[in-house]
Amino acid sequence: MSDMPVLQRVLFSQEQLAHRVAELGREISADYKGKEPLFVGILRGCIMFYADLLRNVSIDCKMDFMCLSSYCGTSSTGEVRTMLDLRESIQGRHVVIVEDIVDTGLTLDYLMQNLKNRGAASIEICCLLDKPCNRKAQVHPKYVGFTVENEFVIGYGLDYNELYRNLPYIGVFKK
Ligand code: IMP
Repeated sequence: MSDMPVLQRVLFSQEQLAHRVAELGREISADYKGKEPLFVGILRGCIMFYADLLRNVSIDCKMDFMCLSSYCGTSSTGEVRTMLDLRESIQGRHVVIVEDIVDTGLTLDYLMQNLKNRGAASIEICCLLDKPCNRKAQVHPKYVGFTVENEFVIGYGLDYNELYRNLPYIGVFKK
């Protein structure tokens, strides 16, 4: 249970997150050995996950970030805008998109198309949370930390109106 009034309950503790993120880091390191992948973090929700994941990646890799916007409060507007773009070309690169949560999939659908047009050698998605019940676009993350129900979650980078990203665990938001 939680002592935070905005939380219905804690969903994933710090320990659970650390354990699962380390597993993902090991899995990706094995899959991309010798490929020097580029990890593209989607700001701002990815920040905690990205930093912890990359600490568990043991192969040579590069980092870059994009900032996309489609959300207002607790619902997606469906219209995706690029607020910050990649610094370098991804032509011929193996790209791993690092995202906090896939909900409708509209954001990543847009991003996958966008990055494919730039000539990447491969593109996969690594998301901490997958909320498949809300899917509106065909998006299939290869690496998933946890699957969640149709609940709005906050913490560990995830926000409600830009608040609560700093919580070290993930909880269900009390509306
Ligand atoms: P999608 O385009 O609907 O898949 O939305 C993806 C983005 O919506 C994520 O990167 C989050 O920023 C945001 N989002 C979706 N569900 C939640 C949630 O439960 N809590 C916080 N943010 C969410």
